[in-house]
Amino acid sequence: MAENINLALSAVDITQSQIDQYHNDGYLVLESVVPDGVCDALKTRMSELMAAFDPDSVRSIFTTKEQSRHTDSYFMESANKVSFFFEEEAFDDAGDLKQPLELSINKVGHSLHFQDPIFKAFSLSSVWGSLLHKLGMVEPRAAQSMYIFKQPSIGGEVDCHQDSTFLYTTPMSVIGLWFAVEDATLDNGCLWGVPKGHQHGLLKRFERHSADSIETKMVTLKEHEWCKDELVAMPVPKGSLVVLNGEFPHLSYANRSGKSRHAYAIHAVDNECEYPELNWLQAAKGSSFVPFQAK
Ligand code: FE2
Repeated sequence: MAENINLALSAVDITQSQIDQYHNDGYLVLESVVPDGVCDALKTRMSELMAAFDPDSVRSIFTTKEQSRHTDSYFMESANKVSFFFEEEAFDDAGDLKQPLELSINKVGHSLHFQDPIFKAFSLSSVWGSLLHKLGMVEPRAAQSMYIFKQPSIGGEVDCHQDSTFLYTTPMSVIGLWFAVEDATLDNGCLWGVPKGHQHGLLKRFERHSADSIETKMVTLKEHEWCKDELVAMPVPKGSLVVLNGEFPHLSYANRSGKSRHAYAIHAVDNECEYPELNWLQAAKGSSFVPFQAK
């Protein structure tokens, strides 16, 4: 049972000035939040899940560049499953993997936090629920999770985006918890972001054509271009947590180094807010997004 798995997480102490910094800048970097042993446990568990995955069962490719084109039922159903998405550069012209499977997957999502006992024990810890409360959430719920590999040499670029584009609530409430399972450096594709960029509001919304439709579209809410010189790099050591406001613009460049950059991200929404049925991500029929454990 997930409740019996002890991942030895300690409470995250943040000061009022860090809370203010989060609200002003749209992000907050907290180092030494997850012990090395817990990072390793997540990595080991992901290796086990990968070993059990049959790559011929599906070859969905994840990209933020042309999300609509690649959206299919596999993607939609991943909302409540542990699903595997390949790197764009994983296959050769003949459709064969260019390198071993474990070096070909872009990410695994979007319900590790609920479907897998190890990831569940980590993700739903009261430690994160308490932190989200401190950052202003009334009733935090874990909506989605993803393990991101940023593979050596082929780990693809993720364009500048705001997470609330894909996970919209009224009023806005999304907070991303981005954990560095390995060191994230300038060489292996660390996060970059635009400080205070969340104050411009949400630029785009990714939504279904209608409830239950798997057809989706990107809707422009506001015209704005982020300038490259506004970006700051956010390299962080293994065990760090980067907290991201849902409207905070961020990206990561391709990883052309020889080192992977594993990260795990949980996106929380406030259950006090309205959650539209046009969002691609929907809780399983008859259920709602899962709460964090009580202290
Ligand atoms: Fe993101």
